[in-house]
Amino acid sequence: MKKERLDKLLSNMGTGSRTQVKDMIKSGFVTVNGVLATSPEAKVVPGVDRVCLKGREIKYREFIYLMLNKPQGMVSSTDDPRESVVIELLDDYWKGFRPFPVGRLDKDTEGLLLITNDGQLAHLLLSPRKGVDKTYYAEIDGVVLPEHIESFRKGVQLEDGYLTLPAELEIERSELISTVQVTIQEGKYHQVKRMFAAHGLRVVYLKRIRMGPLVLDNQLGEGEYRELTDNEIGVLKREVGMV
Ligand code: URA
Repeated sequence: MKKERLDKLLSNMGTGSRTQVKDMIKSGFVTVNGVLATSPEAKVVPGVDRVCLKGREIKYREFIYLMLNKPQGMVSSTDDPRESVVIELLDDYWKGFRPFPVGRLDKDTEGLLLITNDGQLAHLLLSPRKGVDKTYYAEIDGVVLPEHIESFRKGVQLEDGYLTLPAELEIERSELISTVQVTIQEGKYHQVKRMFAAHGLRVVYLKRIRMGPLVLDNQLGEGEYRELTDNEIGVLKREVGMV
């Protein structure tokens, strides 16, 4: 079993910075399996050794799963020299787990973004072989017609010659500004925008509302997030064959 330094474990579980945690250990506030810990370098086995801070057990967890309603104006990465990144929206407690967004939404795209530190799940959700459905609500500058549904169903040839996989297009309103839902299984750069551009149509608003079985919680305002429920985590893992 993998051992970890006591101060690192406590800090990762959101109890304070490494310096603060060292001080707490030296002040006699920390016990491991009921025995007073005196050294920040002491090795513990996460999830097995019982670590208490001021008598309160610090429960170990390895993975976190958050649903974020991404706002416009932020990029989907962990750091960027020029832009605001979605991870900045999280409280320090969550940042301690070193989470990252699963895939990318454009800076001006809103909606469902899964944030986790579970690399295996992220990898599987993004794997082209798994073909996980992603559904977007979009507003289109132009009239979307039934013939576009047919074209999306066949796969759309993008401007660089790439033929997308078949996609499902549902027209909600067909007017000068049309509203649609589109479901794709790939995640090519600007894919939805380029699929409409191939038909001379411009996406003026884009929001992801579903990823596989995970549906954006409509209680989440822009920039808000919440933990996935155990049920949501289970359903997601089953979708990609992890459990
Ligand atoms: N397709 C796009 O064009 N942009 C996104 O952010 C996601 C899908």
